[in-house]
Amino acid sequence: MSLLRPYKRFGDKKNSPYFEEYLTKIYDWRDSVGLVDMVQEMHSIVVEVDESDRHAYIEELMIMTPYHYVKSFENKTFIYSLLEIGEKNPGFVIRSRKNHSDSRFISMNMLSPAAMTKPYTRYIGEVFRVSDIDELQKTLSGAGVEFTDEDQVSGGEVKFIRTVPSQYTWNTIAYIQYPKGKRQYYLEQNPEHIEDEAWIEKLQGIKNLQNELGIGDLIQPIDHLATRVLHQDREHAILELLKTTSYHYWGSYDIADQNSSTNVTRNSNKFEEYRSPAKVFTAANTPHYVDNIVHLPSPTEAFVRNYGKRMHHIAYSVADNTPGQDVDNVDKVVDALKNHDVEFLLKVIGSSEEGLKQIFSRTSKFSFLITEYVQRFNGFQGFFTKKNVAFLTKAAGEDSVLKSEGRVGEGDLSD
Ligand SMILES: [Fe+2]
Repeated sequence: MSLLRPYKRFGDKKNSPYFEEYLTKIYDWRDSVGLVDMVQEMHSIVVEVDESDRHAYIEELMIMTPYHYVKSFENKTFIYSLLEIGEKNPGFVIRSRKNHSDSRFISMNMLSPAAMTKPYTRYIGEVFRVSDIDELQKTLSGAGVEFTDEDQVSGGEVKFIRTVPSQYTWNTIAYIQYPKGKRQYYLEQNPEHIEDEAWIEKLQGIKNLQNELGIGDLIQPIDHLATRVLHQDREHAILELLKTTSYHYWGSYDIADQNSSTNVTRNSNKFEEYRSPAKVFTAANTPHYVDNIVHLPSPTEAFVRNYGKRMHHIAYSVADNTPGQDVDNVDKVVDALKNHDVEFLLKVIGSSEEGLKQIFSRTSKFSFLITEYVQRFNGFQGFFTKKNVAFLTKAAGEDSVLKSEGRVGEGDLSD
């Protein structure tokens, strides 16, 4: 069951006449082919890391997120590790290439000074569950969407296809179909990759620690996924996503003093949001080459120049307080993690009165992804507050500046 058009619009940033014209045309097209009914919830997300970082990255996720480790698999190209929260939340797949020379996205990473320091590390994209993958592929291929043959799976009861990386985001969208019932993953068709028993026990120990710290139940599933793109790619990135998924455009907010905008898309099927979290795009209001004329910070453009177009952060919800609580849950989470060597950018921003408190972690040295924690108070209905986003954008900008000053591309960028 999907939301009815017209989709309610939020935000204050104006789009171009091109955007508004083609937004309607894309909605018309996808309704005419039944795309929203074909593409269901977000099934999983996929992050590729260097094999030498895979264990450390999973350990980091064990303390910082609600994901728990399930199993690892391998085929001739990849080792896959599967992490889950529960049946109703996107799974988290971490894959590592067995042979670096197989890497197809090294060329994207080599274009950016920070990204080239970890050329085999990249957020790959989301996977969506679909009801009829053959029909979907026919429809999208007929509409000009290109698919890679690298990890197509067909023939068995699980079918899987992935688009080539977007020109605008360098992310991919993948689709999976499997029989009704328990969620399945295409990587499960591969033999199990046997992990060291001591490491599995270590992961369990970290999960136990998360619970002992009292934050295991407070950190909730993914709230949103935020990609950073170049100024000129903003509208195309949004429209392209709408053409290939069941998400709709929710609105854009101008964060003028950070020369940036936050652009939100949300699923159009009536799922609870934690089953299919919002996808956000951040882009500068003006391109880098006029920074000397605009005289504003330009953290988003700086990030893309350093890291390339890519996923910037994954945000997790934090449970709302119980009545009478004196320390907010998001502060509890951050304080506990800080005591276990997790670093954050600036401090928790926002307040319970404003409805929302948020914070960014430092960039993971294993995945190049930031973790955001977001607590909404008393059923706050808004997706975010402009003031908070301005602070967060500024904080992330300062992190990028630090990297620039450390001569990005020469030496250790781990922060
Ligand atoms: Fe965010």
